[in-house]
Amino acid sequence: MYGPILRGQSISLEPPRREDIPLYLAWFADTQVTRTLLARFVPGEKQEEEWLERAASGEAQVFWRIVLQGRTIGGTGLHDIDWINRHASSGMFIGERAEWGKGYASETVALRTAYAFEELGLERLESESLVNNLAMHRALQKSGYREIGRRRRYIYRNGQWNDAFVFEVLRDEWEAARR
Ligand SMILES: CC(C)(COP(=O)(O)OP(=O)(O)OC[C@H]1O[C@@H](n2cnc3c(N)ncnc32)[C@H](O)[C@@H]1OP(=O)(O)O)[C@@H](O)C(=O)NCCC(=O)NCCS
Repeated sequence: MYGPILRGQSISLEPPRREDIPLYLAWFADTQVTRTLLARFVPGEKQEEEWLERAASGEAQVFWRIVLQGRTIGGTGLHDIDWINRHASSGMFIGERAEWGKGYASETVALRTAYAFEELGLERLESESLVNNLAMHRALQKSGYREIGRRRRYIYRNGQWNDAFVFEVLRDEWEAARR
């Protein structure tokens, strides 16, 4: 499923659209963007179209594009949603490197987390992030996520193994962080 429009102060989360496929292909071809992601290979245009179609119909996920002044700069989503036990995983990326460090990840996590708790009625969210991805950790922590574990030797990059932290936030922790 695609998520509805969620407006923040600088960015908004909006339903993904087909015309952004060339952007996604360029971002997945940029190793600076993918070096902190599990994704490693570059999809073809057709695969990306199919992915968008699957994402639209999949009932265990909600996806958005991240929009800055009308321009798509990345993507985010909730996935592996368990509607009975009310938990989900979450992830994001900003493909436009020029837009890093401007607070847009923090805003994205805040909008997505509020939607998960207030609109979907979820109770627990999880996210994982490489141990050296400090900007991602901070963006998650600002919305109440905290580190609960470490996946060792999780990603092999640049000739070495990298661990990843597992982050988690419960609804009441998010409410406390918001206050
Ligand atoms: C990781 C990523 C999402 C961060 O996005 P961003 O928009 O640059 O993050 P923000 O600007 O919201 O910064 C979040 C916090 O981290 C801090 N920060 C930013 N860059 C940092 C860095 N290199 N080192 C330490 N802290 C940093 C910011 O100051 C901010 O904290 P503050 O509000 O207390 O000042 C973005 O770099 C990205 O998409 N990278 C590639 C894909 C990826 O790693 N996705 C996440 C996979 S888990």
